[in-house]
Order: sequence, then C-alpha cells, then structure tokens
Amino acid sequence: MTIPSRQEAQKLFADIAAKLDVCDLQQGKEPQTSRIHFQNVASCAYKIAAKISHLDEEKAYILGLLHDYGQLEETLDKNKFHGTAGYDLMMQKGYDEVAKICLTHSFPEYDFKPERFTYNQKEVIRARKIINNLTYDDYDLLIQYSDMLSCGKKITDLKSRIKYILKTYHTTRTDAKIRYKTMLKIKHHFDTLCGKDTYKLLGITND
Ligand SMILES: [Fe+2]
Repeated sequence: MTIPSRQEAQKLFADIAAKLDVCDLQQGKEPQTSRIHFQNVASCAYKIAAKISHLDEEKAYILGLLHDYGQLEETLDKNKFHGTAGYDLMMQKGYDEVAKICLTHSFPEYDFKPERFTYNQKEVIRARKIINNLTYDDYDLLIQYSDMLSCGKKITDLKSRIKYILKTYHTTRTDAKIRYKTMLKIKHHFDTLCGKDTYKLLGITND
C-alpha cells in the first residue's frame, strides 16, 4: 500500500483546494469551506492517531488531507461521485492507500445498500463492488470519524453533525439514525484506543 509524502500530499491538496476555493465562492458558500474541511479532517485524524501506538499520525494526516480529493470532479459534474472520482485519480497516481480512503470515507456502514445514497447510483454500485473486496482498518474508521466531526468550517460533536446532515442532504430520519449509531460505535472504538474521550482530545464541548 502506498501513500504520498507529506510534501507531495500538500502539493496535491494546494492544487485541488485552490480550485475548490473558486467553486465555493461561485456556489455562495463561505470562502474556503472545502479547504478548511480537508484541513480539519487531517488535523482531527492526526491528533487521534498520535494517541494510538499502532497508528502513524503522519499517515493519518496525509489520508485526512486527501480524503475528498475527488470533490472537485463531483462539484463540476453532478453525474460523478467524489468517492469513486477520488479513488480513480489516486489509483492513477499509484497512491492506492489514499484511493481506498477516498472510497471508504463515505460509507461508515460497511454493508451499505447503494439505494440509500443520493449520489450517482452507477458510481455507488461500483463503489459497493470495490469495497466488497476491501477490509476496513483503523485508518478507514479514523477518517470516517474525523470527516463526521468536521462540519462546514467547524469541528463539532456527532449530534450536531447529524442534525446538519438532516437539514442539508435530504437524508431520511431512519438513515440519520443508522449513521448516528454507527458513528457512536466508532467514537467508542477510538475513545477506548486513546484511553480518553476523543471529544476532549479535540476540544469539542457542545454535545
Ligand atoms: Fe469530507
């Protein structure tokens, strides 16, 4: 499994973030929402990984920084899905470990049903098939968790994030409940591994 160096990851991030800055403004979002989201996911992943002996915080940072690398493709073309777009781009560069994260971060429920998702169905079904041949490890879970905590430009608790998802993405209440339950399990997993409440570790107080 291969990932880029921190320097190379920063270059890839800078390039995609500059393009997404323009898209964010065009879409009326707060300036640099995407850029800050990428950085927040990287920072949460780094801080948690640094407390866990079998995880490498540098690797966690790099995976967090590039987890949404396919976002530009989806922003420019709604028929694309950022998960598979990022997966393809990272595989082309030979960074298979980042490619895996690009795909798995959107699916905390390993046995997900493609029809639950509003992304392009053909692409979600393709993601389902690729994931069937993968095993989730602690890096997959770490980026799923860090991504959930990184809401807009903020780092927030899971309850607030689920409320935001319900408001923003037309998710059903049942799906939101499933996601919340999954994420609480992942939180518990990392709280146990860290020997500390990860909310405290990340300075999250509003739960
Ligand atoms: Fe994300």
